[in-house]
Amino acid sequence: MDKFVVCITGASGIIYGIRLIEELSKIGKVYTIVSKNGYLVMEKEHNIKKSDFIKKFSSNKNVVIVSEKNISSKLASGSFLSKFKAVIIAPCSMSTLGAVANGVNYNLIHRVSEVALKERVKLILLIREMPYSLIHIENMKKVSISGGIIAPASPAFYNYPKSIDDMINFVVGKILDLIGVENSLYKRWMND
Ligand SMILES: Cc1cc2nc3c(=O)[nH]c(=O)nc-3n(C[C@H](O)[C@H](O)[C@H](O)COP(=O)(O)O)c2cc1C
Repeated sequence: MDKFVVCITGASGIIYGIRLIEELSKIGKVYTIVSKNGYLVMEKEHNIKKSDFIKKFSSNKNVVIVSEKNISSKLASGSFLSKFKAVIIAPCSMSTLGAVANGVNYNLIHRVSEVALKERVKLILLIREMPYSLIHIENMKKVSISGGIIAPASPAFYNYPKSIDDMINFVVGKILDLIGVENSLYKRWMND
C-alpha cells in the first residue's frame, strides 16, 4: 500500500487538504499533520474544530493524525519517510514555505518537508497567497531548485466549473496527477 503525508497549514483553502486526505485514503495510508494555525483557519473557514477534524477521520483506518509537535515521530526520520510516495502540504502558507525553503524546523511539517527533499521523496507545496512578495518568490525558487514542486492553488475556468466543488476537484485532481494517482476528479482539456 502506498504511503503519503498530507500536511495542512494556516493558509486559506483548508478544504483542499481535507479533500486530498479523503481521496488518497481510498488507495493508501495517509499520515496527516495539521499545524496549530491550520486548525485555526479550519475553524474560521469551515467552522470545523480540531476535535471535529479528528472525529471525522477516526473511523478511517487509512488515516493517521500526527501532532505537529511530535518531532520525534518516525515521519521525521529519513529511514521511514524514504519509502513514501509523496509529501503534500495543502494548503501551504507563506510562513511554512519560508521554513521549508530555508531549512528551519519549528514543527513536524517543516521537518518532514526537509526530510522529503533530502531523501528525494516527491514534495508538493500547494501555496496560497495573493499577491506575492519577492521573498515569497525567492522562497518558491529555492524549494523548486531543491526538487520540490510549487503548485499554486489556481483553479482553471476552461473546463467550465459549475460549482465550488468543481474548482476544488480541479486543484486536487492536478495534485493527484502530479503524484501519479489515476483520477477523474476534473474535466481534462481534450481539444484536437
Ligand atoms: C483566516 C486566515 C486566513 C489566512 N490565509 C492565509 C493564506 O492564504 N496564505 C498565507 O500564507 N497565510 C494565511 N494566513 C496567515 C497564516 O495563518 C500565518 O502566517 C500562520 O503563521 C501560518 O502558520 P503555519 O504555516 O504554521 O500554519 C491566514 C490566517 C488566517 C487567520
